[in-house]
Amino acid sequence: MSATLFYDIGLLFTSDRDREEIAKAAVVVEGAEIAWVGEAARAPAADHRIDARGRAVIPGFVDSHAHLVFAGDRTAEFAARMAGERYTAGGIRTTVAATRAATTPELAARTAGLVHEMTGQGTTTVEIKSGYGLTTGDEKRSLEVARAFTEESTFLGAHVVPPGTDADEYTRLVAGPMLAACAPYAKWIDVFCERGAFDEAQSREILSAGKAAGLGVRVHANQLGEGPGVRLACELGAASADHCTHLTREDVGMLADAGVVATLLPGAEFSTRSPYPEARRLLDAGVTVALATDCNPGSSFTSSMPFCVALAVREMGMTPAEAVRAATAGGAAALRRADVGVIRPGARADLVILEAASYVHLAYRPGVPLVTQVWQSGRRVV
Ligand code: NIG
Ligand code: FE
Repeated sequence: MSATLFYDIGLLFTSDRDREEIAKAAVVVEGAEIAWVGEAARAPAADHRIDARGRAVIPGFVDSHAHLVFAGDRTAEFAARMAGERYTAGGIRTTVAATRAATTPELAARTAGLVHEMTGQGTTTVEIKSGYGLTTGDEKRSLEVARAFTEESTFLGAHVVPPGTDADEYTRLVAGPMLAACAPYAKWIDVFCERGAFDEAQSREILSAGKAAGLGVRVHANQLGEGPGVRLACELGAASADHCTHLTREDVGMLADAGVVATLLPGAEFSTRSPYPEARRLLDAGVTVALATDCNPGSSFTSSMPFCVALAVREMGMTPAEAVRAATAGGAAALRRADVGVIRPGARADLVILEAASYVHLAYRPGVPLVTQVWQSGRRVV
């Protein structure tokens, strides 16, 4: 197998806690995997050479929370919010109507466009949820579309209760026939456990059914207010509780004890003009934190992990190292993946070269397109 040496890396950020930063570094890639990491002076010989020209290298971002299968947009809702209206998640129904009306090729093309945007900004692993179909047929086709782009597909039939439907009846549909039709196309099950969406009993019924069908559990929890979401995620052994914007002291303790990742989505707070989650409190309690975009047309229409890193540093008290770690290894933990989000021998060769001397520039130079090369599974994609 041919080997490629990435040399003259000014500063390597590995997201590997054993050796997180290496100055004057090199990385050797063999096929789709990383074969060697260390100081450039000790690097082994290789068939091909890539000159990093003193720039910084980080792992490809792992965006562990995204809603990419949808049609339409909600520009007017965003503009109204910036003029003072509150986000209620009621607009989900607007996107559901547009998504149902779209053809499958249209949905696939929109999804491809967003994945392309993400790749250009350094994302090499993305989770994609359904949740804008809300009928058995529309949820299944959303997952079929998602599956064409990622192995991390999530069944979110329990996003909201469709208009004109009884909530308990819809819960039985999601936990029964809809799950049976969708499970073959999903790795994960998710529920929007929130006042106005699904309550504790309904969420438990759906998540438990998903778990029994072999899906991993993740939960939209405590986004708009305190509630049972985090507790439920911990009780059911979820990989991740997502949003975590409104947490009690008990919630923080439970996340730490249960080893459930807290996935923070600052793009949502930015776009809904809400208080940011308290990352510092979670980190200090020993909770593993992930950062993700929550890319969706309503609450967070950004595809940019660098933007989320900048927000986490500026607004959430995370250090640049914590933020980049959360956006890479943290996301991998939220997806229970050991092979991505880290630069270490044996990991998938997902590397991002930044047009900067340090990963700190992701926060220091917000909005600047610093991602200059992206390598995914050992192949250059940007
Ligand atoms: O994660 N909170 C629920 N779902 C999305 C928002 C979806 C929408 O507004 O369309 C979220 O923020
Ligand atoms: Fe979400």
